[in-house]
Amino acid sequence: MKPISDVVQTTPPSGIRKFFDIVSQMQDVISLGVGEPDFDTPWRISESCIFSLERGRTHYTSNFGTPELRKAISDYWQEREGLEYNWENQILITVGVSEAMDIAMRAILNPGDEIICPEPCYVSYKPCITFAGGVAVAIPSYMEDEFRVTPDLIRAAITKKTKAILISYPCNPTGATANREMLQEIVDIAKEHDLWIISDEIYDRMTYDGKHICIPTLTGAYDRTIFMNGFSKAYAMTGWRIGYACGSAEVIEAMMKIHQYTILCAPIMGQVAAVEAMKNGYADSEAMIEEYGRRRRVIVKGLNHAGLKCVMPGGAFYAFPSVKDTGLTCDEFSERLLYEEKVAVVPGNAFGECGEGHIRCSYATSIEKIEIAMERIARFISKLKV
Ligand SMILES: Cc1ncc(COP(=O)(O)O)c(C=O)c1O
Repeated sequence: MKPISDVVQTTPPSGIRKFFDIVSQMQDVISLGVGEPDFDTPWRISESCIFSLERGRTHYTSNFGTPELRKAISDYWQEREGLEYNWENQILITVGVSEAMDIAMRAILNPGDEIICPEPCYVSYKPCITFAGGVAVAIPSYMEDEFRVTPDLIRAAITKKTKAILISYPCNPTGATANREMLQEIVDIAKEHDLWIISDEIYDRMTYDGKHICIPTLTGAYDRTIFMNGFSKAYAMTGWRIGYACGSAEVIEAMMKIHQYTILCAPIMGQVAAVEAMKNGYADSEAMIEEYGRRRRVIVKGLNHAGLKCVMPGGAFYAFPSVKDTGLTCDEFSERLLYEEKVAVVPGNAFGECGEGHIRCSYATSIEKIEIAMERIARFISKLKV
């Protein structure tokens, strides 16, 4: 048999998956590993889908997505941020933000084009870029700077081949959020060098301190930004697989071309449920977000108490403490913690080289479980000191 593509072969499997294959074989593990809400989808949302199935809504939709959902998204952003996205040609419904990211890369990249990608970052970004023929240029960020990327490092990384800057705040895995000044500086750099901005704002609603800054609202950002969001996190709808991209009619048309030939349309069931989420799901989603806010304080306190330095994450549902003081690498720490104390976390280097020395702890799990996990982590660390 002829070999599998070089690009695919040389891309390592996700550091998260590798780890969770082990976890799934073990008993009584407390998992702080998954990046998925522990809540079920609010019932009113699921029920709306059941009703629509009973009425026979089981068919393909427009390639762009149902008009109902696109109108609801357009109205939502108009009302919330004053953003004008024409539902007819500036919004594309995708199979999660995952698909939006993939087709955005394929729509804008020529072979060898570079995308600047602050790290630590979501595990899919780099593979998406390389699968689309591009080159990911990683920009590190560190705990000392609260994991905020330094605009000067972005500026220094720009070459003739740079096509876009990829940003995602609140950040998976660090929970970092960004302030207006810093984001405006990044937008100004993009403008100066005529670059696209790809902004994955899937955790926007999970911003606990202050207001989330939505990139396309910044001066000079709207025309060059491919803005992405979805229903997986804020509405606990990971399995429904609905996300969306908003942008200029030109870029949305380009993305739609790929979507049309490869996906056809996002699942109608998910689209129906997403309309209900947009129209009537806000309060349910707020209740879940408030609970994440409470858990955030419990986990950070517990980690610090156990002896791991951890900055208070401003958003998402992850804490990213340092394990450097234990003298273990993040892989050693995570593996030993799993086998010795049955707590699953994700080694920070799964999110980029500069994540070495950290672990990602998700607090999308109950306070009771978080408290037990913190006791186990404290015990694990005290044993290391003996
Ligand atoms: C930053 C970020 N973007 C995108 C995704 C994927 O989201 P979706 O379920 O909409 O494909 C995730 C999932 O963990 C994520 O953390």
